[in-house]
Order: sequence, then C-alpha cells, then structure tokens
Amino acid sequence: MTDFEGLKALVTGGASGIGRATAELLAERGALVAVLDLDPSSVEKPLLGHRADVTDDESVRAAVAAAVADLGGLDVVINNAGIGALGTVEDNDDAEWHRVMDVNVVGMVRVARAALPHLRVSSHAAIVNTCSIAATAGLPQRALYSATKGAVYSLTLAMAADHIGEGIRVNCVNPGTVDTPWVGRLLDSAPDPAAERAALQARQPTGRLVSAAEVAGAIAYLASPLSGATTGTALAVDGGMQGLRLRPVSQ
Ligand SMILES: NC(=O)c1ccc[n+]([C@@H]2O[C@H](COP(=O)([O-])OP(=O)(O)OC[C@H]3O[C@@H](n4cnc5c(N)ncnc54)[C@H](O)[C@@H]3O)[C@@H](O)[C@H]2O)c1
Repeated sequence: MTDFEGLKALVTGGASGIGRATAELLAERGALVAVLDLDPSSVEKPLLGHRADVTDDESVRAAVAAAVADLGGLDVVINNAGIGALGTVEDNDDAEWHRVMDVNVVGMVRVARAALPHLRVSSHAAIVNTCSIAATAGLPQRALYSATKGAVYSLTLAMAADHIGEGIRVNCVNPGTVDTPWVGRLLDSAPDPAAERAALQARQPTGRLVSAAEVAGAIAYLASPLSGATTGTALAVDGGMQGLRLRPVSQ
C-alpha cells in the first residue's frame, strides 16, 4: 500500500508543467486525482480533467463541486495554477498588477474557499501552494511576480494557523527556475535563448534547472499523510539558490 492510497486530490494548473507532474505522481502513489485547468483537453486517464478559470469564483466553485462528486470526496488540494510577469515596478500598469494578483493570489483563495468544507471532513487534509524562490529572494525584473509569490507565502502561513485546529495542514513549495513549458516560452521570447538558459542555469548552485518531477516530489512529500506534523512550512526546491553562498569558481 502506498501513502496516497484511497486519498482524493485536486491539482490546479494540472494540465502542464509542475501541476501535470504532480497530478501524475499523486496518481502513481495511489491517489484519485482531478485536474482543474483553463485548458484540460490534454488531461488523460486516470486523471480527471475539469475546466475552470481560477479568476472566476463561479467557475471554481462549479469545478471543485464536480471534481468532488467524481472523486467521492477531497483530501488534498494542490494550489498550483499561476502565471508570470516580467519587469520592474515601472513596467506593468494597474490592470496587469490586478490581473496577475487575481490569478496567482486570489485564485488560490477561491480554490481553497471552495475546497475547505470538503477538507474539513477528511482525516488526512492537506493543502500545498506552489510559491516560488521569488517570495524569499530579490530577483531582478520580477517585481509583480515576486509580490504575488510573497503574498502566497504569507497566505500559506496564515492559512496554516487558521485551519490547524480543523486538522488541515497548509504548506508551500518554493521552486527555483523549473524546466516547464512556461520557462520554455520565456526562453523563446529572449533575444538570445541559449544565453538566457545558460544564465538561469548558472544562477542555481547545482548549475542546472530544476525539473518538474523534482518539484512534484516535494509537493507530494508535503501533501502525504506521512508528513502529518508538517504545517506552515516553505520547502525550497531550488538547487540551493536560496540557502547557499558558494565561492566563485576560480579560473
Ligand atoms: N517554472 C518555474 O520556473 C516556476 C518557478 C517557481 C514557481 N513556479 C510556479 O509553478 C506554478 C506552475 O508553473 P509551471 O511552470 O508549471 O507553468 P505552466 O505554464 O507550464 O503551467 C501552468 C498551468 O496553469 C494553468 N492556468 C494558468 N492560468 C490559469 C487560470 N486562470 N485558471 C486555471 N488554470 C490556469 C495553465 O493552463 C497551465 O496548464 C505557477 O504557480 C508558477 O508561479 C514556476
């Protein structure tokens, strides 16, 4: 028997990248898994796909209710859907600030709000939010994105405190740069994609990008009933980028 056997999980943004790897891993480890995504057309069995836009409360409530009906309950929520934003504070207007905050922060709130009544009746309830190293390190050209992830980090701690008495654990993962379709798009739009990839790789002490599977492993660790004493934590999955200060390699 594996740790997720008999548990029911919902993964937002589960049609691509980190969310997809997580949905597949939870299913491999025995969970029944529903994916909530803007475009679930690529989601294949045994995963169950549900269309929803996390910026639309009605759509989230309907998709969570449909997923819970399909799964027969809900124990684990992976709040992962998110979008990027480039630039300094001068580069995005108010509308863009509201749009990215709406997806990355309020989107997680909407999903949690719809899921909580179901999680309260689970005996292994866990929420894992996909945060980012951008919450804890100052990265250039990421003012708006970092502000959203800083909010996700604080939200994770506040939710962990609010719901600990109900037996619901809340944690987050803080990935470094992960090799997902999103980062692929970012590299494609750079003037010199190879140089941009090399710079992103060099920024991580491991000298390589993180894989989606590695983030999925960390998310599964936090969501697992085996981690019943872990709540209110941020787990770095960043190739050492946050915690290490290496000496420059001498030439
Ligand atoms: N890739 C990285 O380097 C990296 C690093 C740190 C954190 N993250 C975080 O990981 C999460 C996933 O990123 P990824 O790299 O796998 O991206 P991705 O673009 O490969 O996948 C994101 C998924 O979210 C879905 N989505 C986007 N907006 C949505 C909405 N409004 N409603 C419902 N679904 C929506 C997309 O359809 C897509 O399937 C994000 O929260 C991101 O901030 C990524």
